[in-house]
Amino acid sequence: MSLAHPLAGKRALVTGASRGIGRAIALAYAEAGADVAVLARDGAALDAVAADVKNLGRNAVPVVCDVTDPDRLAAAFDEAADGLGGLDTVVNNAGGFQHSGAFLDLTDGDWTRTRGLNLDPAVGLLRLAGRHLAANGGGSVLSVVSIAGLGGAPRLSLYAASKAAIISLTQTLAVEWAEAGIRVNAVAPGWIDTKLTSGFTGHPPVKEALAAEVPQQRWGAPEDVTAAAVFLASDGASLATGSVLVLDGGLSTQLSAVARGLLGIGRAAA
Ligand SMILES: NC(=O)c1ccc[n+]([C@@H]2O[C@H](COP(=O)([O-])OP(=O)(O)OC[C@H]3O[C@@H](n4cnc5c(N)ncnc54)[C@H](OP(=O)(O)O)[C@@H]3O)[C@@H](O)[C@H]2O)c1
Repeated sequence: MSLAHPLAGKRALVTGASRGIGRAIALAYAEAGADVAVLARDGAALDAVAADVKNLGRNAVPVVCDVTDPDRLAAAFDEAADGLGGLDTVVNNAGGFQHSGAFLDLTDGDWTRTRGLNLDPAVGLLRLAGRHLAANGGGSVLSVVSIAGLGGAPRLSLYAASKAAIISLTQTLAVEWAEAGIRVNAVAPGWIDTKLTSGFTGHPPVKEALAAEVPQQRWGAPEDVTAAAVFLASDGASLATGSVLVLDGGLSTQLSAVARGLLGIGRAAA
């Protein structure tokens, strides 16, 4: 494996690649030497990402698809695989939080919509990926989950539950598919500055308050997720399966703000 181009010769499908984290992963994969199929609903944005991939010297296949439509997702997967002559790695990234609020204020419809965007397409995509990769002698799958799925996430209960379910699938499928040579991993970002979080970043006091909770005192950028995504798709990660790599500036592992204050841990003490 070339360290300069750790994904040389690989063919990747990235969902939710029209912007944000998915776009950054698609471009990083191309820089790392992979051909990339980019999937989302916004065809014009996908064409622009595909052009950026081609400018990096790699083949690109834009595939317009709403992942909440299972039949379209299956057809789009085939378009991506046919367009690149097969797939070696699949990134399950499309998703987001549609509803926030106290759990008791959220409705069954909110859960149906959250599951419909985050979890049901993930189940469908993992099945498509597993069948394709098994038939082709193996490969890897990466899901973009969230630290919300790793612990308590007040006001994001439904989103957190959908991501926790994908973490569970990641761990189970890593075991089920190991013999088929398929590695299954996830990255769990904390706060990343994208359109998804623009409801927070659009309000400077909210943006700053959320950053202040992060031990690194900052928001992540989509590019903060890409090196991990490249690594987990590369042959250098051949022993990594079932892993959930946290990328959150320390947010999910810290002591509570109160405990940190009592112990004198913080910027002033650093
Ligand atoms: N930003 C964060 O702080 C953060 C933290 C942890 C995890 N994540 C996860 O990271 C992933 C990417 O989020 P992001 O922050 O990059 O958000 P984003 O900027 O809103 O991008 C979301 C991507 O998903 C696509 N998408 C949304 N609905 C879709 C649908 N029905 N069918 C197909 N594609 C769809 C969007 O493209 P179109 O609109 O063109 O379809 C877009 O490319 C999500 O799974 C999110 O839960 C984000």
